[in-house]
Amino acid sequence: MLTADKNEMLVRVGPGTPMGELLRRYWMPIGGASEFETMSIKPIRLMGENLVLYKDQSGTFGLVDRHCPHRRADMANGWVEPNGIRCSYHGWLMDETGQCIEQPFEDTTSPRPSKAGCKIAGYPVREVAGLLWAYMGPQPTPELPIWEPFTWGNGFREIVLADVPCNWFQCQENSCDPVHFEWMHDNWSNRLRGDDINAAAKHLKIKFEEFPHGLIYKRVREGQPADSVYWNVGRLALWPNGFYLGSHFEWRVPVDDENTLSVAWFFVRVPKDREPYVQGSVPTWRSPIKDAQGRWIGSHVINQDIVAWVGQGVIADRTKENLRSSDVGISMMRQRFFSEMEAVAAGRDPMGVLRDPSAAKCVELPNMSRKLNTEGVTFAEFKNHPLLKDRLINGFRFHYGQPAQVRAEFEQAIGVAKA
Ligand code: FES
Ligand SMILES: [Fe+2]
Repeated sequence: MLTADKNEMLVRVGPGTPMGELLRRYWMPIGGASEFETMSIKPIRLMGENLVLYKDQSGTFGLVDRHCPHRRADMANGWVEPNGIRCSYHGWLMDETGQCIEQPFEDTTSPRPSKAGCKIAGYPVREVAGLLWAYMGPQPTPELPIWEPFTWGNGFREIVLADVPCNWFQCQENSCDPVHFEWMHDNWSNRLRGDDINAAAKHLKIKFEEFPHGLIYKRVREGQPADSVYWNVGRLALWPNGFYLGSHFEWRVPVDDENTLSVAWFFVRVPKDREPYVQGSVPTWRSPIKDAQGRWIGSHVINQDIVAWVGQGVIADRTKENLRSSDVGISMMRQRFFSEMEAVAAGRDPMGVLRDPSAAKCVELPNMSRKLNTEGVTFAEFKNHPLLKDRLINGFRFHYGQPAQVRAEFEQAIGVAKA
């Protein structure tokens, strides 16, 4: 249980709030570069700020204020040119720093046109592993950590986005919550299939540890060998808003206090028979969270998580909860957030911020699936692998709604059509 004041500290993300200031010290994944194969400007709201994300005709990405510095027209109604985004109201042109670089009427008629003060917010954007990343904090800009899985070759990758109508922090608490797998995923899935007993393997033991980029949770369930990777390696609540499970990442990116953008990145190593495989573009797609009747979709793993998160309320009321022994990781996470908010207020870099370019260019993480993902298996082994074969038989089980085109690209990469 938390006091109302402490709960407020965890959930408010706007500029100037303690959590807003902390989160602004990190690069955030905000979408897929492949989204810009079919459009050039996308309105986006991040941490309570209304912005536009665009790709100009030179290929430079920009993330600038939604409103023009002239008379505040909507930049989403503009267009891109070789060196920026142009407002469609009177033609002012802004570069990716948000600086106005052209004022057509003044540039034509005034002997000394002044662009002083004609600047809107402009945040740096980088593309890594098909993801677009933004940094919305103070200078100097920290290094963008290149997590080791982003460096892996011979993989089929895809990015899935989902719009989640609740506060980001309850989504992130889920990253340090092993016991929900038994209930929200296993037993509930069994119930949806018609079972009437709770037959999922019980959790027998859990523990939580800190590491330089977050928290690790480890677990033993019924029927699981004591030396399994689930106990020896574990899964990561990646600081500050990620979750890493060996072959995929999830991030819970605050849109504002009441909405979250779920960004997930998936990797499947192609069978050895298909190497070398170089993916041209990483597909990005959006997963719906409600069906045509307006009911929550509960058939896929991350959709199930989303059902849990939104069910806690738009902003979970932590004054009314009752934490128990399954929630030790949740408490550790909250305490760490409070201490890192204090660090920022005191002018220090918080946990995990990297300033050394050589340390950032390949950041290794505890990883349950490194061998599988870096060495690969043959197609025959792929078809029999407990995790991989499910992808062949049952399709993409993480998010509802994988487009047929993405499935076709996956099958092509894996060599299903050929087999
Ligand atoms: S409002 Fe944008 S150019 Fe005038
Ligand atoms: Fe889950």
